[in-house]
Formats: sequence, structure tokens, C-alpha cells
Amino acid sequence: MTLGIESSCDETSAAVIEDGRNVLSNVISTQIPIHQKFGGVVPEIASRKHVVNILPVIDQAIRDAKIELENLNQIAVANGPGLVGALLVGVSAAKSLAFALNIPLIGVNHLEGHIFANFLSHQNLEPPFLSLVVSGGHTALIHVKNYNDFELLGQTRDDAAGEAFDKIARVMNLPYPGGPEIDRLAREGNEFAIDFPHALESEGNFEFSFSGLKSAVINYLHNAEQKEIELNRADVAASFQRAVVEVLIEKSIDAAQKLNLDKIVLAGGVAANSSLESKLRNACESREIQFFYPSKILCTDNAAMIACRGFYKSRAGEFSTLDLDAEPAMQFKFHTRRSD
Ligand code: KG4
Ligand code: ZN
Repeated sequence: MTLGIESSCDETSAAVIEDGRNVLSNVISTQIPIHQKFGGVVPEIASRKHVVNILPVIDQAIRDAKIELENLNQIAVANGPGLVGALLVGVSAAKSLAFALNIPLIGVNHLEGHIFANFLSHQNLEPPFLSLVVSGGHTALIHVKNYNDFELLGQTRDDAAGEAFDKIARVMNLPYPGGPEIDRLAREGNEFAIDFPHALESEGNFEFSFSGLKSAVINYLHNAEQKEIELNRADVAASFQRAVVEVLIEKSIDAAQKLNLDKIVLAGGVAANSSLESKLRNACESREIQFFYPSKILCTDNAAMIACRGFYKSRAGEFSTLDLDAEPAMQFKFHTRRSD
């Protein structure tokens, strides 16, 4: 029985999983309505809300799983990357509980957690595979060789995919978080109405850049405003989304083919994007690559994915000590690709 704890951003979450892949409970208390009026996450408010929520959320997760605290064998907690004050709440709770119950503690990289959400949604999924991690803070292509060996193929040089969605939504006066709003609006628009730029398109380049695209869309919007041209907002949303999605898909397919991998696994909050999911699925099907992505609730931040990652770390004997700290700028603990 692994208890997972997640508090890296604006969700306080606790989950109990059994034998690594069986979710007994996954309680998620979201702060989105609180941060919405500020147009983004306010770190100090997030930390304070985590303090209020953490114990009731853990308590609920234990009750939903129909177990007692004493039945827990280990505790996994996301200790980075994320907001330092927010992370500290989960880390402190996890350390206290592990000490009180005298059970092992496992610090987990939040992004590795996102990848492992797929093991919960797909019981038969096993490495090796290519993973595209797209969240509010990261965009990366990772070769998952086995449960504890990952190679970073490339990541974003500037904005993350989710960040680009959130920033464009903000300029368009859509509420936070912008990803789901753009996704919804884009369904009513023509994605070929505007040709926004695609960055770093050359084959074999697994890095991303979304800042040029972001500027192009903002310029387009400002230009229309200045000239008092009536815009079709749905067309702008759909065309922007197409530019992001096409780059993500091209690079994922290219990487899978170069590395001879027959599975692509999508992970992170942006995996909830309906266009990315359906287009990547089609691109994989036509190339006989198997496609996996987590159920919607496991795409965005949750503690079940942290517990799952923790379970596999524990199987490899990777435990933490009680001096585990929050690491807001934690890097991928991946090998960087040799330049061959
Ligand atoms: O993984 P996540 O929950 O938190 C981080 O670890 O960052 O990802 C949140 C991000 C936000 O930027 C949000 O706008 C984006 O995921 N997102 C979406 C969709 N749902 C969430 N982006 C595009 N389309 C969606 N449907
Ligand atoms: Zn996340």
C-alpha cells in the first residue's frame, strides 16, 4: 500500500494505490476557482490553501481506500519541480507521517509521475517507449528505457506547451487555466484560417520553442485590435492550437521512428487536449505505432501518479531519508542524449 502526496502547484492531492497499479483512492482538491480571479496561480495563496487542505485530503484518501493509516507500507511525495512553498506542504506532511508510522519515504519527480500515470490507465503497458510530456511547466521528449532508466531527448528552450496555451488564453481574455478554454473554443473554428509559425522543424531536432508562436499570435491579435478588424476568435484559437499540436506530433513520430520505438505515451496536463490526443492517435495508427494516454483525471496533477512512480522507485531500492527537501527547480533525472 503506497500513499501518494502531491502539492506542487494548485492541486492538493492524496491517493492510495495497491501493488503499484491499482488505485484505491485519488482525492484531488483543486484551487483553480481561487486563482482564477488573478488570471494565474498566486504562489503564496497556493501554499496557504495547501496547509488548510493537506490533512483533510490525506484523511479522505485513507477513508476512500477503506484502510487504516497503519495499513500503509510506504509514502511517496512529489518534492519537485514546482512552487517551493506549495511543495514544502506536501513534503512536510509526508515526512511527518513516515516518521510517525515508521515507514519508508520516497521523494518523486513530479514529471516522472506524469509519465507513470499511464501505468495506472493501461495495466499492460511496459517500457520501453517514447514519452511526450506536455504540462504547464514542461515540454519534453523522453525515451523511457525501463522503469528506472530514462533518457531526455530534448525539451523546450523557452515556454512550455501548457504555458503557451495559458498565455494566449489570457491575451484573449479567457479564464485561467487557458488550455481547456482554447481547446473548447478551437472546436468552433477553422484551424487552417491562419498560418502561425512552427519552430525548430528540422528532422532529428527534438527541442521545442513556443515563444515565437506566442509572439506571432499576440501580434496578430493586437494588429486586428488596432485596425479595428472584427476577429473570428475561434479561428485564432484553432489555428494556434494546430501550430502547437503539429510540432508536438511531428517530433514525437520522428523520435519514435529514429529510436525504433513502437509505443508513444502522452503525459501531462496538455495530454487532455482533444486535438492533440486524436491527431497523435491517428498519426500513430497509420505508422503501426501503439498510442497510450492517461484517463482525463490522471492527465492533470494528481497523487495516484506520484504513488505509482514511488512504487517503482521502491522496487529499485530508491528511498529517501527524513531530510528530504523541496526542490523547486528539480531537473529531469534523465541521462542527456549523446550527440551521435
Ligand atoms: O500537468 P499539469 O496539470 O500541471 C503542471 O504540472 O504544469 O498541466 C497544467 C497545464 C495548464 O497549462 C493547462 O492549461 C493545460 O495543462 N491543459 C490543457 C488542457 N487541459 C489542461 N492544455 C490544452 N488543452 C487542454 N484540454
Ligand atoms: Zn503537473
